[in-house]
Amino acid sequence: MNVEVVHGPNLNLLGRREPEVYGHATLAEIDQALERLGRELGARVRCYQSNHEGALVDRIQEAAAQADGFVVNAAAYTHTSVALRDALAGVARPYVEVHLSNVFARERFRHRSYLAAGAVGVVSGFGVDSYLLGLRGLIDHLKRSA
Ligand code: DQA
Repeated sequence: MNVEVVHGPNLNLLGRREPEVYGHATLAEIDQALERLGRELGARVRCYQSNHEGALVDRIQEAAAQADGFVVNAAAYTHTSVALRDALAGVARPYVEVHLSNVFARERFRHRSYLAAGAVGVVSGFGVDSYLLGLRGLIDHLKRSA
């Protein structure tokens, strides 16, 4: 089983970016934790981050050739990007949307997600655990539908 993790803009700054909102873990630490959990659960996890919408679209299209599903934190593009929504719909792989912070407890513009309607599920507000819970949920979903 192959899972592709896609991180959107500014998540490369994790660890020093608004730590009161996003915590102290770096993106490298999150990726390591996801790869470790993937191994425990029998999945190969690959992680990718970009600050560029088109690069994220390219990655989703390319990764779909071998990925069974996606864990996606599209960051700010969650709230704006029809292109990412269409890319995920276009490759027709199950995905889980995750956020470190609870987007519903924040500004109104963060309450709308262009991706959520097409997702298997959404995990928001548990810090790094949002990613790990999202990966568990996706792998369970993939095993059930295998
Ligand atoms: C985020 C929440 C988004 O609203 C924000 O733009 C981010 C990070 C999160 O993980 O909490 O960059 O996706």
